[in-house]
Amino acid sequence: MSQKLEELVGRADGLYTSAMKHERSRDFSEARRCYLEAADLYVQASRIQQNRESRDHLKRGQQCLEIAKRYAPGVGKSVIPPPPQPVPAIPVAPSKPVPPPDPKKIAPEKPTIDEKKEDVPDFLLIERPNVKLDDVVGMPVVKQIINEVLVYPFTRPELYQAYGKQTSEAVLLYGPPGCGKTFVAKAAAGEGNATFLFVMPYNLLKSGEGETERNIVTAFEFARENSPSIMYFDEFDSLANKKRVKAVNTLLAQMDGLQERPEKSLILASTNKPWEIAPALRRSGRFSKHVLVSPPDLEMRTAIFEKECSSRPVETSVNYIALAGMTEWYSAADIAEVVKLAADIPFREALSSGGQARQVTLADFQQAISQKPSTLGPWFTLAEQQIERSGERDEFKDLLDMIERYKSDMARPPVKIEGKSSGGELPSE
Ligand SMILES: Nc1ncnc2c1ncn2[C@@H]1O[C@H](COP(=O)(O)OP(=O)(O)O)[C@@H](O)[C@H]1O
Ligand SMILES: [Mg+2]
Repeated sequence: MSQKLEELVGRADGLYTSAMKHERSRDFSEARRCYLEAADLYVQASRIQQNRESRDHLKRGQQCLEIAKRYAPGVGKSVIPPPPQPVPAIPVAPSKPVPPPDPKKIAPEKPTIDEKKEDVPDFLLIERPNVKLDDVVGMPVVKQIINEVLVYPFTRPELYQAYGKQTSEAVLLYGPPGCGKTFVAKAAAGEGNATFLFVMPYNLLKSGEGETERNIVTAFEFARENSPSIMYFDEFDSLANKKRVKAVNTLLAQMDGLQERPEKSLILASTNKPWEIAPALRRSGRFSKHVLVSPPDLEMRTAIFEKECSSRPVETSVNYIALAGMTEWYSAADIAEVVKLAADIPFREALSSGGQARQVTLADFQQAISQKPSTLGPWFTLAEQQIERSGERDEFKDLLDMIERYKSDMARPPVKIEGKSSGGELPSE
């Protein structure tokens, strides 16, 4: 075994043992953390060689991930998880049958405020998307905050009153592109019963003197008139930019006293460029919560592959955890693109040959991954430069730490993903 491999497997085995200890002492969240870290290391180890041993490592990674899933927050909350059984041999990932559509998702429970539609300014979109928080893979912390700030105030107002919790807040989601900020915001809109107003930044930013500021005021008035409401500013940096002094002042004035207002009107904003947002807006406490939306970890990437492949004819031998292992530091959007590219290969073949389409294979995924590098690398380079330039290193320490982790992972020897086998197949039992 190479030294690197030995080190990885040693660390993974150690974490596996700790995970079992935590299980015995019923510290299930620590157990989950250790299982997830062990899964990550086993999958990394599986990619160093291409032999039976590497397939065993992949298998162990998958086992750890399976056990970790039992301890996911929200799973069997009131039930003490069963003690883990000796892990059975892992079946190869079957391609999932497409679930029947949820009728509730086709017909939204509460229609949008149609009667007012004609009065809606062109920079606001009232829409109830067909996604729910359950459709969002992972992100337990983000979901909890969204539930507490955006969903439960409407569904359990009496609790908030009884415990003196404020019900009007503003949340800023930030992080690299393609990692689910807009997606989770749309899911929040699909959950609650509040009117959800999407602010279209490019329509709102009008060039006429004072027009942008007037539009901001109109948007806030509209949100208050239609309360309970949630107003979502996507790409908030384009509006709340340091350079747009007047717009920023108008936003500050409108957001002031949000918590004291009788109307329930919440604000959600997201950005890939938080350093461009005027510090006054970020630091003044106007946004009561700042939430970093990180790139998907191994568990999330596996689940995103599963989700993206569920509606496509993928060969049953394709192992999603192996694909997740090959796409470290890929965003969710990158993974969606990889799956699309892979599926395009047999699709195009069938079109040009006029024959039957074959299933998507591991080799198709390998080709797609080698064609589609992660988009996060260029973003990290830009983010680091911009944060440096802004002189706000302390403010963005979490992003800088993420960039450091990325760099140290990239410094590892590259893994060859082309070729016949990369450990993506499991041995036949
Ligand atoms: N947590 C997630 N679960 C499932 N799919 C996701 C998740 N995050 C992102 N995606 C997919 O990636 C796409 C891009 O994400 P998006 O929310 O637009 O990224 P951002 O707003 O952070 O740039 C989404 O449309 C969705 O299909
Ligand atoms: Mg977005």
